[in-house]
Amino acid sequence: MRLVGRLAALAACVPRGARLADIGTDHAYLPIELVEKEVIISAVAGDVHSGPYKAAKEHVEGLSLEGKISVRLGNGLAVLSPLEVDTVVIAGMGGQTIIEILTNHCEIVSSLKRLILQPMVGAAAVRRWLCENHWYVLEERLVQEEGRLYEIIVAERGDSPRYEPVMYEIGQKLWDEKSPLLLLHIDQLISQTKRVVREMECSSNAQKSLKYQEYVTRLKQLEDKRRCL
Ligand SMILES: C[S@@+](CC[C@H](N)C(=O)[O-])C[C@H]1O[C@@H](n2cnc3c(N)ncnc32)[C@H](O)[C@@H]1O
Repeated sequence: MRLVGRLAALAACVPRGARLADIGTDHAYLPIELVEKEVIISAVAGDVHSGPYKAAKEHVEGLSLEGKISVRLGNGLAVLSPLEVDTVVIAGMGGQTIIEILTNHCEIVSSLKRLILQPMVGAAAVRRWLCENHWYVLEERLVQEEGRLYEIIVAERGDSPRYEPVMYEIGQKLWDEKSPLLLLHIDQLISQTKRVVREMECSSNAQKSLKYQEYVTRLKQLEDKRRCL
């Protein structure tokens, strides 16, 4: 199997020799590729739903990799014991789900060296959570696949600098490194924020709210950043 696009970019963030857990593994494509390429020695592939769990198990057993990949059914990090793995991938879920998975098992999280996160939405909340919980962003990647842009956040343990608020939206590393997809990323953030502002302007109550002011401020900050590119 050869991963492409988003999954290949996630695989590239896993350090050689890592003991990996892929939480929300679905078909277990990621751990299978990393074991087959001998990037990692072993993996835990976890999923909370029985359909994806069975698919992962069949796939792993079909390739006779069950000695190296342990497929487990369970919620988030509950499938792990402390110190069993050092690197966790949580990809293809909403930012709030990722945060819940991390906050529900602090004892596991505190034993990890690296988190590789790919929120489908809500990346800003994930960046804030990392910053407030003693993780710093080591690397960020933008990947475009089938017309959609994905954000990958790689974090390691350690204190993080506090960023200006708009940088939690954009991603400080993506900004500093001027990723080739940065302009498209900021344009998408601007369009999403404009849509929310317009929707709120349809209601006089919403327009009086603090949330509305926050979105208007965020929009201005994003537009200012775009002008700097
Ligand atoms: C969209 S798929 C993403 C699969 C793969 N990680 C990827 O990035 O291609 C999301 C998977 O996460 C699983 N999932 C959702 N919430 C979960 C949780 N709390 N714990 C474990 N797995 C979860 C779902 O069952 C599903 O298989």
